[in-house]
Amino acid sequence: MKPIDCAELAAGIVPRHIFVEEGVYAAELERLFTRAWLFIGHESQIANPGDFFASRMGAESVILARDKSGEVHVLLNSCRHRGMKVCRYESGNADRFTCPYHAWAYDTDGSLRGVPHDKTVYEGGIDRSRWSLIKVARMAIYKGSIWATWDEHAPDFETYLGDAKTHLDLALDCRDGRPGGAEVIGLHKWVFPANWKFAAENFLGDTYHNPSHRSVDMIGIGPSAGRGVKGRRDDELEQAQHVWVSFPAGHGVHSAVRPVGREYVESFKDDPEIEAYFRHCYEARNRRLGDAARLLPFVGTMFPNTSYHGGQPRGLCTWHPHSPTQTEAWRFFMVDADAPTAVKQFLRRFYMRYSGPAGMTEQDDMENWLYATQASVGTVAKRYAFNYQQSMHSPRLDPEILGLRIKGEVSTQISEHMARGFYRRWADYIDDRPWDVLLGRSDKRFTPPTAAE
Ligand code: FES
Ligand SMILES: [Fe+2]
Repeated sequence: MKPIDCAELAAGIVPRHIFVEEGVYAAELERLFTRAWLFIGHESQIANPGDFFASRMGAESVILARDKSGEVHVLLNSCRHRGMKVCRYESGNADRFTCPYHAWAYDTDGSLRGVPHDKTVYEGGIDRSRWSLIKVARMAIYKGSIWATWDEHAPDFETYLGDAKTHLDLALDCRDGRPGGAEVIGLHKWVFPANWKFAAENFLGDTYHNPSHRSVDMIGIGPSAGRGVKGRRDDELEQAQHVWVSFPAGHGVHSAVRPVGREYVESFKDDPEIEAYFRHCYEARNRRLGDAARLLPFVGTMFPNTSYHGGQPRGLCTWHPHSPTQTEAWRFFMVDADAPTAVKQFLRRFYMRYSGPAGMTEQDDMENWLYATQASVGTVAKRYAFNYQQSMHSPRLDPEILGLRIKGEVSTQISEHMARGFYRRWADYIDDRPWDVLLGRSDKRFTPPTAAE
């Protein structure tokens, strides 16, 4: 049985068993997480030669390392001798990765350097060039963020991003519009009992779930909460035209377009340094980017499992699958590397209050995902599909919104077309389709394979 009925998907119906079944999960690991571009970490986490950060791709452990010459590598964290993890620390600095089992030693670029009793037990010496740590097929550093794929035939990363790049940039670029320049100031990791797709889908732009955050909205948890602005949204977003956008490769975002001529609104009345920083960023960004500065970030998911918050809080979040019903979340909190210390500290406190395992909105979201998973594992429950029929007809291709061209399938009302696009591509990966299909080039709409396939 195919995990998704293509005709039903086109009608906005997604089967429930894909969120809970072992067989589907195994197919995801085999066909999706081995091919798609996955987020590994950020350059600021491995600033110096020898720095490493233990990351994940799907369910597998990988090492992100900067070698002695400064080059960045992504290596499978599994010894070529018997598979022992060669790196069991979360991050640090090392000359080598020496396997604790029989002590094969690998350089920070993955090459095999040391083999105990090499000349005797391997009778003249092992061919070291054949037994390096396994490297990813392709790696990309994009504005400081590092991505990789196991598929040597994958397109380059920017092609994979497509027009979603413009929105991801809003999370990666400096607040004043300079490209890149971010720094990860903290990383939260936690495990929750829900399918990874619930989280990825939420960040595609599920604005419909706002009732979940009612308590947070009532107390006002925005960056300037208690300083004159109420609620999670800032004044700028309140005045903007919101857009929900789907991209052919399965990415989806919720962004907004600010009206022409909107002035900066003073927000941090009791803290002149923070106020001066945000005012400077606002004005410098307008000068640097012109009309493009009117595109405002909110959230998005880069297919399949990397989400971002583009405004404040700001960061990337990866949803690592553990099993059909368990996910490990990694939330990378980001600031401008050259922001004043007071601003970084202020944002650090706000990020923790808002996001992460103790953050107020993340707790609301996780409660939904884990109860939805729990209430879907039953034999009867999983027979019944979910409804994804919001705004079936409202999205338009590349429209102009308040004078700004927005690329992609764009809805100006709350919509689930991003999720429909996400599952269309998800089904293509599970069906092992070629890259021109995975990028949405050969077939903009999902079509079922023929019987011969
Ligand atoms: S498993 Fe690593 S040296 Fe044997
Ligand atoms: Fe939420």
